[in-house]
Amino acid sequence: MIKLPLDWEIYIEKHSSPLLEILDEIERQTYLRTTFPQMLSGKIQAGFLHFLVKLLRPDRILEIGTFTGYATIAMASALPDHAVLDTIEADETTAAMASEFFKQSPWKNKIKLHLENAEQFLRHTSLKYDFVFLDADKENYPKYYRLIKPLLNPGGLWITDNVLWSGKVLNPGDGQAQAIDRFNKLVNEDSGLENYLLPIRDGLMLIKHKD
Ligand SMILES: C[S@@+](CC[C@H](N)C(=O)[O-])C[C@H]1O[C@@H](n2cnc3c(N)ncnc32)[C@H](O)[C@@H]1O
Repeated sequence: MIKLPLDWEIYIEKHSSPLLEILDEIERQTYLRTTFPQMLSGKIQAGFLHFLVKLLRPDRILEIGTFTGYATIAMASALPDHAVLDTIEADETTAAMASEFFKQSPWKNKIKLHLENAEQFLRHTSLKYDFVFLDADKENYPKYYRLIKPLLNPGGLWITDNVLWSGKVLNPGDGQAQAIDRFNKLVNEDSGLENYLLPIRDGLMLIKHKD
């Protein structure tokens, strides 16, 4: 069943620049066709990502965890003409669904969908990124900290999703909460990085190299 927005979410939406109609369709199809539709970023977070990409004008974006392509489209639609977005997804079914939406969109040439395990991609790529959105398997967040850091260009922004994990990081009992808490500490204690934990949705960690 589709999740109904709360009053304050409707207010935010009404007082922000409108999002693309294709995102409503992706959300609708995600609720109809997938088992865990709540994994989708949602309007507020997608709007924030879109706004940041417009502001920062990155040449190359990396997204880890495409799912049905909701955040991918939100970010790709804000990119300058020459820029591209690599998005990595290990699940064949959701990647196929995302690919459907990408092909229907005006941003199809900007989006490079890699059906691949993220660790494998990160270990082998020679590309560097100006903007990274990490939103995949939480138990591997500490590993992603080590693999993504060298791929982030100076001046680039790296956003990691779900760093509050519904508040479970305050008293991390299970493996996922422990891994996210470990990630938060690794980033925060890294003298080469600056970071800010923003309480949007499930918590976004904003990370950059120190100037
Ligand atoms: C929370 S969803 C991503 C949501 C999407 N970014 C959005 O905003 O709508 C996480 C996705 O990461 C994928 N994933 C999990 N582990 C992965 C891995 N090791 N490599 C690549 N993709 C992975 C899952 O299949 C899932 O589709």
